[in-house]
Amino acid sequence: MIKQAIIPLAGQGTRLLPLSSVFAKELLPINGKPGIEYIIDECIDAGIKKIIFIISKKKKIIKDYFYNDKFYLRVIKKKKDPRIIKEYKKILKYKKMIKFVYQNKPLGTGHAVLKTQKYIKDKYFLMLLPDDLIIKHNCSKSIIKIHKKYKSSVMASMNVNKKNVSRWGIYKLEKKIDKNNFFINAVIEKPSIKQTPSNKAVIGRYILPKEIFSILQKQKPGIGGEIHITDAIQSLIKQNKKFIAHNFKGKYLDCGTMHGYIKSSMEISKL
Ligand code: G1P
Repeated sequence: MIKQAIIPLAGQGTRLLPLSSVFAKELLPINGKPGIEYIIDECIDAGIKKIIFIISKKKKIIKDYFYNDKFYLRVIKKKKDPRIIKEYKKILKYKKMIKFVYQNKPLGTGHAVLKTQKYIKDKYFLMLLPDDLIIKHNCSKSIIKIHKKYKSSVMASMNVNKKNVSRWGIYKLEKKIDKNNFFINAVIEKPSIKQTPSNKAVIGRYILPKEIFSILQKQKPGIGGEIHITDAIQSLIKQNKKFIAHNFKGKYLDCGTMHGYIKSSMEISKL
C-alpha cells in the first residue's frame, strides 16, 4: 500500500518571476485556490495518509499557511462566517497530514528527496511535483493501481513535441505492456534534440522505491549542476529495477511557467 507522499517545494521558482520573488509559487491562486491544495487533494483522494513537504527557509511561508490556527480562531470568534469555518477545518485537516523537512540549498529534486529518507516507512512512496497539475483524472490514483498490479516503480508520462524535449526528463521505451503502459530502459534529464531517445516525457508523479535513497547518497550532480531524480532512476534501471511509464488520462497543466500558470486558472474555471 502506498500511504506516504513527498512533495519537493524548495525550488526557487525562477520560471515564475516576478510572481515568485517574495512569495511561494505553490501558494499562488489557481482559480481562487492555492496550487498546492490541488496537489494535496489529489493525494487524499488517492488514499495517501501522510505527506512530507520539503521546503526551504525562504519558503517558510508555506508552513505559515498551514499553521495559522490562531488567526483563524480570532476571526471566527468575531464573525461566525460558515465559509471561513469551513476553510479553517480544511486547513487543520491538511496540517495534521503534513510533515515539514528542510532543503536549504537548491541542489535539485534528487537532493530534496534525500531529505525525506528517515521518514519513509514503506518499500515504495509517491512523489508529486507541484508545478504539474493534472485535472479531470486522479493521476496518483492511477499510478498507485499500476504499481499494485505490476509491483513496479511507476512514472507518469506524456508525449511532447520533439522540439521541446530539453524541458523534460525523456525516457526510452523497452516494451509495451498495453496502450498506456510501458516498461522503460533508459531515462535522461533534459536531453538536447540530438541526444533524445524519444519524445516521451516524464511528468511529475512517481512511485519510487526506497532503494533510491542509497543511489541518491552517492549520486553526482548532473545537468545544470543539480542532483536529479531522473539520474537516480536511470541508475536503478541499470541495476535491473523495473520502471513503468504510464500515459495518464486527464489534462496536464504546467503551472511552473508563466504561460502555463495563466492558462491553468482558465482551464480549471471551465470545470
Ligand atoms: C522535473 C524533472 C523532469 C520532469 C519534469 C516534469 O523538471 O526533473 O524530469 O520531466 O519535472 O515537470 P523541472 O520541472 O523541475 O525542470
